[in-house]
Amino acid sequence: MSQKISLTRYLVEQQRSHGHIPSELRLLIEVVARACKGISHAVTKGALGGVLGSAGSENVQGEVQKKLDIIANEVLIEANEWGGHLAAMASEEMDGIYVVPNRYPQGEYLLLFDPLDGSSNIDVNVSIGTIFSVLQKPEGPDSVTEQDFLQAGSRQVAAGYCIYGPQTTLVMTLGHGVSMFTLDREQGSFVLTGEGLRIPEDTKEFAINMSNMRHWDTPVKRYVDECLQGKEGPRGKDFNMRWIASMVADVHRILTRGGIFMYPWDKREPNKPGKLRLMYEANPMAWVVEQAGGAATDGRGRILDIEPTQLHQRVSVILGSKHEVQRVTAYHSA
Ligand code: AHG
Ligand code: MN
Ligand code: MN
Repeated sequence: MSQKISLTRYLVEQQRSHGHIPSELRLLIEVVARACKGISHAVTKGALGGVLGSAGSENVQGEVQKKLDIIANEVLIEANEWGGHLAAMASEEMDGIYVVPNRYPQGEYLLLFDPLDGSSNIDVNVSIGTIFSVLQKPEGPDSVTEQDFLQAGSRQVAAGYCIYGPQTTLVMTLGHGVSMFTLDREQGSFVLTGEGLRIPEDTKEFAINMSNMRHWDTPVKRYVDECLQGKEGPRGKDFNMRWIASMVADVHRILTRGGIFMYPWDKREPNKPGKLRLMYEANPMAWVVEQAGGAATDGRGRILDIEPTQLHQRVSVILGSKHEVQRVTAYHSA
């Protein structure tokens, strides 16, 4: 039987033989993975752990918080604040940044997360996840500020997600391809189950919330219309559709068998660039997808090139199989 490679061993080997990661970053990833294990445990307990339902509060984006949104946020903060590897954290569920308290040493990294992605799926027992992105604090003696977080996605040093589905799976990139780890619940550790993941460049599957069709912009409408025409239409093939309403789950499917995911700008709230958040949803996912040979744009350009101006800013997202993403993007400038 082939030997199992734990996340710890994988990271040590990445550090030792390939020089891909400094030890502080290795610690950071281990701690994020440990936090995800804790969240996975809470998710699995469901009603038995009293974690379902609404918390009765709202986050900075005006969304009602679920109990699990808050629990996951706390688990990530508590796991990460004392290790000395971080200067500060930012989250979908916190208005401003969370600076590591004075009683702990401050490290050189910044961690951003969507603690619980797919909140509408918590109570109905459908896959949800955690998304994370790691940046380096800009050099200098100054104490950490929100401005330090406003870096383009191309400057991420690590990113990934953990999906809580039939299996709990951690997917991650350090900029040298994408690796996948499955949680072995008996051992309590993540085990390497995929390396060098590749997204097929072509696909016959698209993911978009079709109920918003009447609000879409012309290029997105055109793309989906052509898919729906199937074999008889300009694409000459039949398409399948999926929409899980958890970006982690949709992206995980795309990473596994290809596809395109879109949450584009639409006319419901024309002043918002989109629904998804750039810094802790779109950027980490865009980097994972690109590292697996896919593409990610906002319809105009590469998501990873966007210079952020706000921590919670939103963005239009088109990502997945390269040729399909290129097609939708080209329709935007046609
Ligand atoms: P979150 O639960 O972190 O707020 O994110 C939900 C996001 C994303 O995961 C998903 O693709 C999308 O919202 C679903 O939106 P609709 O309910 O509008 O389809
Ligand atoms: Mn989310
Ligand atoms: Mn969330």
